[in-house]
Amino acid sequence: MKIEIVHDQQQGAQLVVEEFQTLLARRSGAATFGLATGDTPLAVYQQLAVSPLDFSTSTSFNLDEYVGITPTNLQSYHYYMNKNLFKYKQFANSYLLDGQNPDQQTVCENYEKLIAQHPIDVQLLGIGRNGHIGFNEPGTSFESRTHRVKLSETTIQSNSRFFDDQNQVPRYAYSMGIGTIMAARKIILMAYGANKAAAVAKMVNGPVSVAVPASVLQRHPQVEVILDEPASTGLSVK
Ligand code: F6R
Repeated sequence: MKIEIVHDQQQGAQLVVEEFQTLLARRSGAATFGLATGDTPLAVYQQLAVSPLDFSTSTSFNLDEYVGITPTNLQSYHYYMNKNLFKYKQFANSYLLDGQNPDQQTVCENYEKLIAQHPIDVQLLGIGRNGHIGFNEPGTSFESRTHRVKLSETTIQSNSRFFDDQNQVPRYAYSMGIGTIMAARKIILMAYGANKAAAVAKMVNGPVSVAVPASVLQRHPQVEVILDEPASTGLSVK
């Protein structure tokens, strides 16, 4: 794991944008990006939106989506992506999991087929306070592929800040599995703020265990972890 400590999210985002630029140049634009939502990657999308980078021959896949809400729901990850990135940058193909389709087998198998056709060059990740990546909660198999997930109480509570009340937070989501994420050629995980420090420390210095999904990244050959100082305070080696 390569660990970079940055001043703030803007500086972290700059590193990601530079990586994207290098990848696009190497692939003459035909690259595949794995994208995340949440607070963590917002600065990346803001910087991409005003950058000259051209994604018109690229493909994107999003990590996850809530089950049971429409793409126009303000809390859906479809809405988030349109608002923060796709409105500004068009990709040749942008794939998101269809949270409106209750047929989990079809949704998940189709997504895996698409990813097999367009292997992900670089996957962006945030991390949950319980060490989740995507919506893969503690206990999820490292071999898991795209699947339907029952959200943990911690995640429901944490995500309730975006909804009017906790009862509106969907209880299920579709998510790439840990095996799906690990198949990406490169992974960039960002974490900002003191409330991520414990999860970051377990991910980097702790044993590799399904109790901390992000710890699996220790086994990936190309991982870059971008942290601000508060998120890095629990690390034993910096
Ligand atoms: C988002 C996702 C989640 C978040 C994580 C951190 O697509 O899959 O794993 O990355 O919950 O969320 P934020 O960035 O809001 O702290």
